Amino acid sequence: MKKKLVSGIKPTGTLHLGNYFGALKQFVDLQDEYDSNIFIADFHALTSIQDKDVLEKNIINIATDYLAAGIDPRKVNLFKQSDIPEVTQASWIFNCITTMPFLMRAHSFKDAEAKDKEINVGVFDYPVLMAADILLPGADVVPVGKDQKQHIEITRDIAEKFNRLYGKTFKLPKPIILERTESVPGIDGQKMSKSYGNIIPLFATDEEIEKSVMSIKTDSKSPDETKDPDEVIIYQIHKLLITKEEDFELRKKYEDGIGYKEAKDLLIEDLKGFIKPMRDKREFWRNNPKKVKRILKKGAKKAHKDVITKMEEVREKVGMKL
Ligand code: ADP
Ligand code: TRP
Repeated sequence: MKKKLVSGIKPTGTLHLGNYFGALKQFVDLQDEYDSNIFIADFHALTSIQDKDVLEKNIINIATDYLAAGIDPRKVNLFKQSDIPEVTQASWIFNCITTMPFLMRAHSFKDAEAKDKEINVGVFDYPVLMAADILLPGADVVPVGKDQKQHIEITRDIAEKFNRLYGKTFKLPKPIILERTESVPGIDGQKMSKSYGNIIPLFATDEEIEKSVMSIKTDSKSPDETKDPDEVIIYQIHKLLITKEEDFELRKKYEDGIGYKEAKDLLIEDLKGFIKPMRDKREFWRNNPKKVKRILKKGAKKAHKDVITKMEEVREKVGMKL
């Protein structure tokens, strides 16, 4: 029997290279090895999107992106989180065994609170809903980027607490975080993120690729000065796209002295080659929204079936099934 993989991405805007290398590429690379269940985290997106049209558009867009990036719906169960209402029931039960001081330690909460004191309860409770996404279907592994590591730890703690209180019910899931791609830098050198305005879109047009690469931050070293590639943002992004042999050659170029303009031109060329086939595939799915919706509907049916028994067990264990 294959082990179960569960992961999701929030439909909150354009996917970028960080999402791809940190999460999406793993979903694709692991789809043969695992019983894969990938979803669109639309309940989670509600913490930041309160506009019907925007949410609907984002959901269909991210489903299209998943398929364009290589998720094969014959191998992966692809669905929308909100089609599985049991996750909100389970998250309420988890809320009642999770303490406020424990959740207040979450980096995501602390960051959000530092930016705006008026954050909604959803932001605070975010990791508990995430625990329900992962624990109800019984995930063995959860591929994510480094920024989600703490959320998986919280999930494990909630599972342990539930098991302690009510008897063994949930498996403890493990994160899959690849060191090489755990935190892809954006064009300003901070972590690439939708919320920092520093992204290279995953389905960028050639013009967008040129524009974003040309804006990558550099220092004032002259073209023929030797450079440590690991300190140059252009290289940190470029190395994700190339083979070991190509990487060896590229590092040498930096060490021998390469101008930033030339380094950017090389990156632009490779990015164009990397993105084009995915962009073409995206066109196909974009023109077939009915097919995309059908895939999500079928996925929801299976995902729903997968959690019903566990939810019944939970209701019974907490004392709600007379
Ligand atoms: P964003 O920070 O752009 O809002 P999300 O929080 O929606 O991204 O992340 C979706 C997935 O992509 C998560 O698994 C996250 O860890 C991963 N991810 C996001 N940004 C990066 C990055 N710069 N490097 C590696 N992984 C990332
Ligand atoms: N919190 C994740 C993010 O911001 C999205 C997410 C929601 C998720 N539920 C999940 C990821 C369950 C993995 C497993 O990217």
